[in-house]
Amino acid sequence: MSRVPEASVFLVVDEAKRRARERGLRLIDLSIGSTDLLPPRAPLEALREALFDPSTYGYCLKSCTLPFLEAACRWYEERYGVQLDPRREALVLIGSQEGLAHLLLALTEPGDLLLLPEVAYPSYFGAAKVASLETFLIPLRPDGLADLTRVPEEVWRRAKVLLLNYPNNPTGALADWAYLEEALGLARRYGLWFLHDNPYVDQVYEGEAPSPLALPGGRERVVELFSLSKSYNLAGFRLGFALGNEEAMARLERVKGVIDFNAYAGILRMGMAALKTPREVTRGFARVYQERALVLAQALEGALDLLPPKATMYLWGKLPQGLDDLEFVLGLVEQGVALAPGQGFGPGGKGWVRLALVRPTEELLQAAQILRKALG
Ligand SMILES: Cc1ncc(COP(=O)(O)O)c(C=O)c1O
Repeated sequence: MSRVPEASVFLVVDEAKRRARERGLRLIDLSIGSTDLLPPRAPLEALREALFDPSTYGYCLKSCTLPFLEAACRWYEERYGVQLDPRREALVLIGSQEGLAHLLLALTEPGDLLLLPEVAYPSYFGAAKVASLETFLIPLRPDGLADLTRVPEEVWRRAKVLLLNYPNNPTGALADWAYLEEALGLARRYGLWFLHDNPYVDQVYEGEAPSPLALPGGRERVVELFSLSKSYNLAGFRLGFALGNEEAMARLERVKGVIDFNAYAGILRMGMAALKTPREVTRGFARVYQERALVLAQALEGALDLLPPKATMYLWGKLPQGLDDLEFVLGLVEQGVALAPGQGFGPGGKGWVRLALVRPTEELLQAAQILRKALG
């Protein structure tokens, strides 16, 4: 079986967008999670300074990453009250997407079984293929969370890894502590690795996002992935970090050791400054998405069946019965609005679309008008 993933439907949408723009169409692009919000100033200043410091120009090995890892562990401890060892329980990632793909390679053998929701971030499916894994797709509950009760006993017994992501892309669903405790309990009972992709940790509309690593016994089974892309609007700079089980980290470090030399030292300094961003600032970003979600949901009421989001920069909506999401999205690009087709997020996404809240409210309202018209 080939390890090479199939071409993604997002490339088809991207090509349609390119053609539309070439014809002079002004597109409201809500198809990808690349925000219009700006990063805080301090991390950008830190990067600018680093650029003119020749000590940052060389390869960055483990010791060079330690100040950043210490900062990441401090950040985690301040939020969740759990002290981690930066040398053994933390690693730099070139974004959480990179980290997840390499973690699957580090923790599994070809043919192992991965459990993940039937609607999930697209790169999970590709990463599973690259690692030659079999997958079991967990059906969703009506609230958008993976229904762990629908995984048969024999599947739990066979599985090697459970992969979850709350706050969730694309559904906007948020797990509570009790849900993650149940997931961790299952991972411990059946001896699975529990990978929790958590790049939207700061995009919760009310309260705090729970973290399974902080639960009792979490450090035995959990690896959690964090990203500076979404928390601080620094997606293009490619920086994230993994925290969690010591053995998993050691394996990931060895896999990454043959593939990359960590991030640029200047980017790590940028990251250390970003991690000091006051919580009011990140809460302010989350409030922007919350307001946009509210406005757009109201403008689409009755036209699209939306799952009310509790977090993230996305709305997830079901198209009227019988509409193919990819065809609908391609047609809508011709009308000036780009969305993400649901089938790109796995078989459970067929017939759904994802709207990224990455444009100002006025544009979202214009997009809603166009969308309503297209839906008749
Ligand atoms: C669930 C999820 N994981 C990972 C990523 C990628 O994050 P990074 O930029 O840190 O690679 C995204 C980006 O949209 C995402 O939605």
